Amino acid sequence: MRGEKLIALQARGDALRGEISFEPCQGCHRIDASGRTSGSYPRLAGQHGTVLIKQMTDIRAGRRNNPKMEPFIGDHVVSPMEIADIAAYVSNLPIPKEIGQGPGTGIAHGKDLFAKDCATCHGERGEGKGEKFYPMVAAQHYRYLLREVKFIRDGDRRNSNPEMVKVIGQYSDEDLEAVADFMAQLVAPKK
Ligand code: HEC
Ligand code: HEC
Repeated sequence: MRGEKLIALQARGDALRGEISFEPCQGCHRIDASGRTSGSYPRLAGQHGTVLIKQMTDIRAGRRNNPKMEPFIGDHVVSPMEIADIAAYVSNLPIPKEIGQGPGTGIAHGKDLFAKDCATCHGERGEGKGEKFYPMVAAQHYRYLLREVKFIRDGDRRNSNPEMVKVIGQYSDEDLEAVADFMAQLVAPKK
């Protein structure tokens, strides 16, 4: 861990400043950082601050493709301190009630897969683990989750944890749909 990611992680982010720095992001991620139930934009509210910092710095370092967002997160637009501020603000926002759901038909199979292959890192209830950069996957929009697990399996999300790639690499499309169906309906734990 080095460079701006480390600087942002060690900085004391300020939520009040972060609220202002988050304004240009609201057009896509919405004013309450709830994203879109269609899954086109992820929910950020309540996500672990460390995860937000890792993903923001990975996106701008080109480790994760996101052409739509690049003009808003480039290093000429947002400083490492502002990244820390945004993370402090967004991670403390309440998790919205309305989350885009899957068809519901895969939940039982998805539950088995998740318990076997995912819960060791993402937590039994999908709560994640901030210190390890494991994202909270509970209460995330279904279509976003499905897109990401496909990116992870097919190598399009290059910042992915290699151990995760190994397990997801074995999954069929049906398995991915089922596990996303299951994760989307998990209730995020209260902070
Ligand atoms: C033009 C639309 C747009 C704007 C503006 C935008 N984003 Fe995004 N953002 C996206 C999209 C699309 C994704 C998901 C990309 C994908 O599917 O992998 C995303 C993903 C993210 C993620 C990763 C979430 C996760 O769960 O891994 C973070 C963090 C994030 N955005 C923060 C921000 C911040 C902070 C700003 C403002 C500085 C911002 N975004 C502005 C479109 C946008
Ligand atoms: C060894 C730990 C580990 C295991 C096992 C693991 N993951 Fe992950 N997962 C991660 C980490 C770390 C990230 C953060 C992305 C990154 O930077 O690699 C992540 C990211 C994700 C994301 C993207 C979340 C977001 O907000 O963008 C999804 C979805 C996901 N994992 C689903 C799964 C599923 C489904 C399984 C089981 C089939 C699984 N993971 C197994 C560590 C793990």
